[in-house]
Amino acid sequence: MDDDISSILVDEASIQGRIKEIGAEISERYRGKELLLIWIQSGALLFTADLIRSISIPVKIDSIRVSSYKGTTRPVSEPLITQRPSHDLEGENVVLIDDIFDTGKTLERVISELKKMNPGSIESCVLIEKQANRQTINPCNYVGFNIQDQFVVGYGLDFAEKYRNLPYIGVLKPEFQNPPEWV
Ligand code: IMP
Ligand code: MG
Repeated sequence: MDDDISSILVDEASIQGRIKEIGAEISERYRGKELLLIWIQSGALLFTADLIRSISIPVKIDSIRVSSYKGTTRPVSEPLITQRPSHDLEGENVVLIDDIFDTGKTLERVISELKKMNPGSIESCVLIEKQANRQTINPCNYVGFNIQDQFVVGYGLDFAEKYRNLPYIGVLKPEFQNPPEWV
């Protein structure tokens, strides 16, 4: 699998180091309060698993599923919520967790849906942010790393559902991004 990657953008140690800082920040911000983390499937799986172990206050966890990609490196449709959280969000302090902020449409859509469920507050947390394609003014409250506009995989991020299990974030070689049978 490593052979499919042209360069490592964020290595394992850097990811884990930054997650400890974000976990400490969230713990500080919500100390003495209730906190419900809602992670976005499937990309935020690894980030969430590591982040919750860096948070030192008790948290509740829920998830949501959003679909917008169909085996390409660009979204083909508006984000669609295909699985809703199972908790009652009324009055809850929610922190949404996603793998990457690109246009921002996924988080914007999720935030507007969740607001209808009357949470007490909503913040968002992403591991990676790309500034280049931003199409929303919604800021992310916690950001792991800013990267240039390029398609990355690993540490939860996929191309056509693959490569999520790489422990680092890397750039997929062009020949693996557009296999001839999918063109
Ligand atoms: P946005 O809605 O444009 O902000 O895109 C967010 C979603 O797009 C993320 O949850 C990812 O699933 C996907 N995405 C955006 N950029 C990348 C990338 O470079 N690699 C893999 N997935 C990406
Ligand atoms: Mg994805």
